Amino acid sequence: MSTVVYIPRDAGALSLGAELVATAVITEAKKRNLGLRVIRNGSRGIYSLEPLVEVQTANGRLAYGPVTVADVASLFDANFLTGGAHRLSQGPSEEIPYLKSQQRLTFERVGVIDPTDIADYVAHGGYRGLRNALALEPVAIVQAVLESGLRGRGGAAFPTGIKWKTTADQAADQKYVTCNADEGDSGTFADRMLMEGDPLMLVEGMTIAGVAVGATQGFVYLRAEYPHAQKILNEAIASAYRMGYLGNDVLGSGKRFDLEVRMGAGAYICGEETSMLESLEGRRGEVRVRPPLPAIKGLFGKPTIVNNVISLASVPVILDKGAEFYKSFGTGKSRGTLPIQLAGNVKNGGLIERAFGVTLKELLYDYGGGSASGRPIRAVQVGGPLGAYIPAGQFDTPVDYEALSGIGALLGHGGIVAFDDTVDMAVMARYAMEFCAIESCGKCTPCRIGSTRGVEILDKILQGVATDQNVALLEELCETMLNGSLCGLGGMTPFPVQSALKYFPEDFRRAPAKGTRTAQGMR
Ligand SMILES: Cc1cc2nc3c(=O)[nH]c(=O)nc-3n(C[C@H](O)[C@H](O)[C@H](O)COP(=O)(O)O)c2cc1C
Ligand code: SF4
Repeated sequence: MSTVVYIPRDAGALSLGAELVATAVITEAKKRNLGLRVIRNGSRGIYSLEPLVEVQTANGRLAYGPVTVADVASLFDANFLTGGAHRLSQGPSEEIPYLKSQQRLTFERVGVIDPTDIADYVAHGGYRGLRNALALEPVAIVQAVLESGLRGRGGAAFPTGIKWKTTADQAADQKYVTCNADEGDSGTFADRMLMEGDPLMLVEGMTIAGVAVGATQGFVYLRAEYPHAQKILNEAIASAYRMGYLGNDVLGSGKRFDLEVRMGAGAYICGEETSMLESLEGRRGEVRVRPPLPAIKGLFGKPTIVNNVISLASVPVILDKGAEFYKSFGTGKSRGTLPIQLAGNVKNGGLIERAFGVTLKELLYDYGGGSASGRPIRAVQVGGPLGAYIPAGQFDTPVDYEALSGIGALLGHGGIVAFDDTVDMAVMARYAMEFCAIESCGKCTPCRIGSTRGVEILDKILQGVATDQNVALLEELCETMLNGSLCGLGGMTPFPVQSALKYFPEDFRRAPAKGTRTAQGMR
């Protein structure tokens, strides 16, 4: 029997050389006349160990990493196929501390199975949720999602069950389930990892959503820059059709659910749900005025669920193990687990799925190992480019929706980007305004014009020009954008700016640049 070797096909691992390593392992095995079956799995999410090569041995699955092409021959010399010791040995995969201390519900199979093999998916508990759902009345499925306490993981944290109930309650000849896989936030990659590592979980979650609300068509709106996820998702969808998990008669239930992947338009604003619907309909991604809510009048004017990848991929767990099980994780009104993405200036970036309540400090130091530069971490930005900057003094804050909003921050899609003490927070504030100016859909004035004025004001502050007046003007502009913008892009851009002003005021007090006039009245 051939030894099974796992080498990820996850885009993150590929960017670190996984494809070359896979080719080298296959070539070396042939040269040595060794039987070997390489399975291209997802990533375990420990990027400091990628490409992580795992071997199925009599003593379980053993890990080696980070492997380069140059290490491959020595791995064979060390008999890694039978678990031989090597300087890259990480021991049993599940015992790696980064993984062992996690509470993986949504990511339980990611990095473990062959992502597009339905038999492997089912052997690891896949499709139990859908089978249970099909035995229930649709209203009971919605009730289970409501009771689980699941809140949208895309950013707004709206209760998923309430959204579903609104769509389920509409009478319509056609309803849709749409998955927001645009994943535009800086430092986030959970959606991608899930779609590349366990795409059938998303397919199953969307199918359950369709059955629950009476929708027969689903669309995944996929970030334009995710070609690997596109390929894997399409392979998984094709397998699901072949095996009767999608199509006219889902698992012989008489219920229909069709699913397609549509590529995004490549703009950050296309992740905002109404822009996403415009884009899905073939138009320019521009925000729609609400009401009506998409749950009532969404895609092509029909009742539509819009949910994030992780929200939908959490549903099979709820329908399999029960709402109470899911709810037993977490704290307060933040129930379940969150796949947290650790990025920026940290030693061990990656994906950490934990119940809500883990602190920023644990994430940054116990998992992240501190900064990659070895310097003190000065701030983190949580929740993407529109998230507030949190200073080191607040790293004891638990990661849950209420605790973060209590310190004026937001959790968003669960991305954490770390910065060491060389970061210039006035430059970061300018970056936030510039990002908004570039990405604005242009529909409303506070965002379209305000962000450009914001960049101009920050340029003056950076040059040390009339600092007091310009900081006051910036604060006023932030209030206008916060209160007057039509959607979260303009409405939340002030968060990074205001938090930088609040916690790092010293960065905004600059000496006038050489040659700059500093006389009063200078603007
Ligand atoms: C500017 C902007 C960008 C957004 N980008 C995304 C995105 O990339 N992915 C996502 O799931 N939600 C994004 N959202 C949130 C969506 O509008 C929406 O709340 C979410 O898709 C609903 O799904 P959920 O309830 O499962 O979170 C964005 C919102 C705004 C304002
Ligand atoms: S806030 Fe910006 S992105 Fe949102 S609708 Fe207004 S112009 Fe468009």
